[in-house]
Amino acid sequence: MLDLIIRNANLPDGRIGIDIGIENTRIAAVEPALAAEATQTIDATGRLVTPPFIDAHIHLDSTLSLGLPRMNQSGTLLEGISLWGELKPDLTVEAIYTRAKQLCLWSMARGTLGIRSHVDICDDRLLAVEALATLREELKPYLDIQLVAFPQDGFFRYPNAAQNLERALAMGIDVIGGIPHFERTMEDGALSVKTLVRLAAERGLMVDMHCDETDDPLSRHIETLACETIRHGMGGRVTGSHLTSMHSMDNYYVSKLIPLIAQSGVAAIANPLINITLQGRHDTYPKRRGMTRVKELMEAGVTVGFGHDCVMDPWYSQGSHDMLQVASMGLHVGQLTGVEEIRSCFAAVTTNPAQILGLENYGIAPGNHADLLVLQAEDTIEAIRLSAERLYVIRRVKILAQAAPRQSTVNFAGQSIPIDFTRANLPNF
Ligand code: FE2
Repeated sequence: MLDLIIRNANLPDGRIGIDIGIENTRIAAVEPALAAEATQTIDATGRLVTPPFIDAHIHLDSTLSLGLPRMNQSGTLLEGISLWGELKPDLTVEAIYTRAKQLCLWSMARGTLGIRSHVDICDDRLLAVEALATLREELKPYLDIQLVAFPQDGFFRYPNAAQNLERALAMGIDVIGGIPHFERTMEDGALSVKTLVRLAAERGLMVDMHCDETDDPLSRHIETLACETIRHGMGGRVTGSHLTSMHSMDNYYVSKLIPLIAQSGVAAIANPLINITLQGRHDTYPKRRGMTRVKELMEAGVTVGFGHDCVMDPWYSQGSHDMLQVASMGLHVGQLTGVEEIRSCFAAVTTNPAQILGLENYGIAPGNHADLLVLQAEDTIEAIRLSAERLYVIRRVKILAQAAPRQSTVNFAGQSIPIDFTRANLPNF
């Protein structure tokens, strides 16, 4: 007797009519017409069942602080940075904890059950480290949180960043971050990459840097990051986040750079919602999109994830931690409209970031964690198109969140016609 069977599921890899059997907290079987019984059954009715969404890049310390102490009038990166500076003296552990916890409840409702959050360590009180490390432990039964020590004001540029990094690691931070393009000089930027990757290699930690988040095509710290990753044998454990300068780089240079990134095993994270709104701000027309070269990186075999980056904070007034919105924006900005490319956008918010975070036992296969979503969509393409409702969010066999199918009713020509925008709802002509 199994604990749960989800019957008649479509899977992200294209299999349809699949039953998923769950015993204790693990997936026991994935096959058509599973000959077993369970104490609980969910009929997926030909809808998509997927492993949970993973957000590989967010800032939980600033999330949901929109309007504090005031709104960003210009909507620019620079005003956002100064706003964050204005808010910092008033931050408390409780305020950061409460807002981040609220965001995590939104994440659960949205089926986002893995989060890598950067944590600003350029505040000598390290309030955010304390708040988020506490939250990470408290929420372990519900979702996986990884924390990155992020020297927002520069590892060399902020006087106490090196000491604060040591303190943050001692407080249990998981990953080493950086921001080489924000150091005072290109040389300092490169030195910060070398120093931080070496430190991570010595400690056996992963690296995830904000890297080249600029429109300057000569910001090439990703090259140093790839090279140092090879030097220290850190392939598969290092990530370059944003990489927006690659959008503006010379094609000839990129023809050398992308194979180097692929060889190094460095993963890439684009943040489509934020890149499209914050980059290209010095342009008149045409305006650059600013997102890194997702299509070409994927084609070269680089693991690419999409992150939400911000939800209602000084830099971004929008969002509800819906990773399908992120996938949709990535699809549009990157012109990833081929069938396999659309599927790769879905992978960029599920399997790819799971790999980047190093999550174990993730995915729909026997032996893996019973972490699953039932979406109001037939397949991954429809899921992105509709930002599909999360009908069931399942974490280790338990139903963590639930929503009724979205439906409108149109009163037309004397009839009440139900509309849910899915292909299944189309009339049969
Ligand atoms: Fe970021």
